[in-house]
Amino acid sequence: MMSFRAKPARCAGSLLIFTFALALCCAFGSSAAGAEFLPGEIWNDTAGQPINAHGGGILYYKGVYYWYGESKSGSTFLPESNKSWGGTRVDITGVSCYSSTNLYDWKNEGLVLRAETNSPLSDLYPSKVLERPKVIYNRSTKEFVMWMHIDTPDYAAARTGVALSEKPTGPFRYLGSFRPNAGVWPENVTDADKIPGPTNSLARDFKTGQMARDLTVFEDDDGQAYLFYASEDNFTMHVSLLTADYLHTTGKYDRIFINRSMEAPAVFKCDGKYYFIGSGCTGWEPNAARLAVADSIFGPWRELPNPCVGEHADTTFGTQSAFVLPIQGREDFFVFLADRWNQWKLPESRYVWLPLEFSSTGHFTLRWHNSWQLPTDAKNLRAAAAN
Ligand code: GAL
Repeated sequence: MMSFRAKPARCAGSLLIFTFALALCCAFGSSAAGAEFLPGEIWNDTAGQPINAHGGGILYYKGVYYWYGESKSGSTFLPESNKSWGGTRVDITGVSCYSSTNLYDWKNEGLVLRAETNSPLSDLYPSKVLERPKVIYNRSTKEFVMWMHIDTPDYAAARTGVALSEKPTGPFRYLGSFRPNAGVWPENVTDADKIPGPTNSLARDFKTGQMARDLTVFEDDDGQAYLFYASEDNFTMHVSLLTADYLHTTGKYDRIFINRSMEAPAVFKCDGKYYFIGSGCTGWEPNAARLAVADSIFGPWRELPNPCVGEHADTTFGTQSAFVLPIQGREDFFVFLADRWNQWKLPESRYVWLPLEFSSTGHFTLRWHNSWQLPTDAKNLRAAAAN
């Protein structure tokens, strides 16, 4: 979505080789040795079919990684309403889920939330929009909660949808959609923000709830969870505390990246600091990634330079952020997950996964790799990048 477009608004000895193989087997499953990530190439699942999980996110639960994403199939078309900004679409089929213990090999678990083909009024009717599903696990309720961007084909509705399941592999029960934080001002509101005006969408949407398009959810160490969503006609992002059951926003929220037109949010935590990677708003076209850091999740967020370095850094290597995955048991190793959209053949969009490295300035850097593997010692990787 764009804000300014017409869219409404190895080693010396065998011991080390053995250690390397053992570490991979123990930490990532037995089939990982020799496997590698091939960013931007067709990525088949364990049944030999291309993985179909776009704009996705990953949940780690009891030794298994679950990758949820938009299932995109059928023909790509450009609705009349979206002609001015190139908002091509495919009909909703649902949210797909894949499981893996090593992050290389993914088993298709099927559609965990399906389109509702018989109910034209449903949010999940094929002609509607369902994007960027993210799932978190609630340790208190023992339920899996899916948040997603729900919209009308012209992207005017700008709502968040929520679904619930007792198992990571679904089926998820769709609970409905809403616009967050109706009737509540953000914590950092100013007097000027409250004055209605032609360009003040915060005040315009105060009563009915704030617009919410691209989104992500983040669970903090203390179990509190937060929703990040592109709001205010995509000009400004909001971060909102979720209720203890993770099913609603609480009304405690802040405006962040004010008028910076950011979307495709991905959030992670490292060494007690919160990091954000997102994109600018140019629809399916790639642009330069935005990186930011904060001591508190509500901000202030400080923007850092483009994390990408090298050729095609200005387009995030032809991709748009989707998620940042913390690797279990390696508290300082993170993988950047992005989509390489194919605007005119959306189901042929591909995935680009790259390791996030610490740069010498103490910030994260993304470099292109034609192929790469998970390191056996993430701390070494961090140290190496800093030198
Ligand atoms: C992108 C957004 C995608 C999708 C697309 C439609 O900016 O990140 O999730 O909404 O616009 O053009």
